Parts: sequence; C-alpha cells; structure tokens
Amino acid sequence: MTLHLVDHPLVAHYLTRLRDRETEPDEFREVSDKIITLLLYEATRDLRTRSYPIQTPLEETKGHEVDDHVVAVPILRAGLGLVGPVLKLLPHVTVGYIGLERDERTAVASRYYVKLPPDIHGKVVMVLDPMLATGGTAIKAVELLKEYGPASVRLVCVVAAPEGIEALQAAHPDVQIFAAAKDRQLNAQKYILPGLGDYGDRLFGT
Ligand code: URA
Repeated sequence: MTLHLVDHPLVAHYLTRLRDRETEPDEFREVSDKIITLLLYEATRDLRTRSYPIQTPLEETKGHEVDDHVVAVPILRAGLGLVGPVLKLLPHVTVGYIGLERDERTAVASRYYVKLPPDIHGKVVMVLDPMLATGGTAIKAVELLKEYGPASVRLVCVVAAPEGIEALQAAHPDVQIFAAAKDRQLNAQKYILPGLGDYGDRLFGT
C-alpha cells in the first residue's frame, strides 16, 4: 500500500480551516469541497487517457480524454460530503453507496445499506471516507468492493490516523491512500488527535 500525503500550501490552508472548532458548517462544506478537489488531483494522477484528433479554431491537434471509468463509493454519512467535487471533476464517474455504522463502544463497523453500480468489474474504485480512524470501516468497505473484481481500489480521506493506516495496510496492502494529513493518534473514543472532530457533524451541523 502507498500512502500519498498531499503536501501543498492550499491543502494546509484549507485543512486548518476544517480543524478550527470555530468554523461553521457553511464554511466547513465550502472548504471541504475545495480540499477534496485538491486531493482528487493527486488521486487521479495515474488514470489512463486516450488521444484523439480535434480541431482548434486554427488547426488540427491531438486531444486527450480520460479512458478509465471511476466508481466513487462514499461511505455514509460523512462520505456524502465528498461526492459533490467528485461529480464535478471526474468524467464518466458513477457513484455507489455503502452505509457502515460504527459501534461507539467497540468501534466495529457493520453494514446497513449497500447500493452499487452494476459494472464495477475492471474499473477504478475510489472509496470516499474523510476520516481514516481505526480503519475498521475502510477495511470492511474495501472487502465488500473487491468481491466485484475492480481493477484497483483507492481511498480518499482528509485525515488519517497511524492506527488506521497500519490496519488498512495489513488487511489490503494493494490499496492506495490519498490524504491531506497523517495525524498523531486516536483517543480512547477512537477520534483522531488533533483531528477535526466528527466530520459528519461538522459538515451537516448535527
Ligand atoms: N470519524 C470522525 O468523523 N472523526 C474522527 O476523529 C474519527 C472518526
């Protein structure tokens, strides 16, 4: 597994706005869209392209189009906040949904909703889950998605904890992780420190 930490001044700037407890949901959503767009830039770097001739107003030249089809899979609920920029940026994208609920006491994830596009086989799957904490949810989601034979699976998150990175790496060494930051550790309640709190609560004002 490869961990890609997106080291960029804009990512650092927007991550700070997300971390700040004074940031209200309106701004949080706006900044979340921006930072996800920046992460997607890296997470799509290896997509294949196909070239074809086009006419500019002046002459013929070689154009390119993205040839890989991406299936984006947000993990409910917080992953929903990542879908907007994915739909705006990625050509040919389809979206599936996985609902995994984390038991607050044991931090074990169980599935309560799955709705996936019919054609995952051979495609690039992009799991969207903003906080990689224990890794339990990501591991379950990847396990489920691999049953459909995707070409590859990658995870886009905002903040990753060392515990989650290690657990995901052990369970699925082929999965690439794209994140804005690797934080220090989990607390006793399995929240990431320093983190930014509950991403879903911050996003939706709950
Ligand atoms: N999920 C969150 O939203 N925040 C954390 O810190 C951990 C899991």
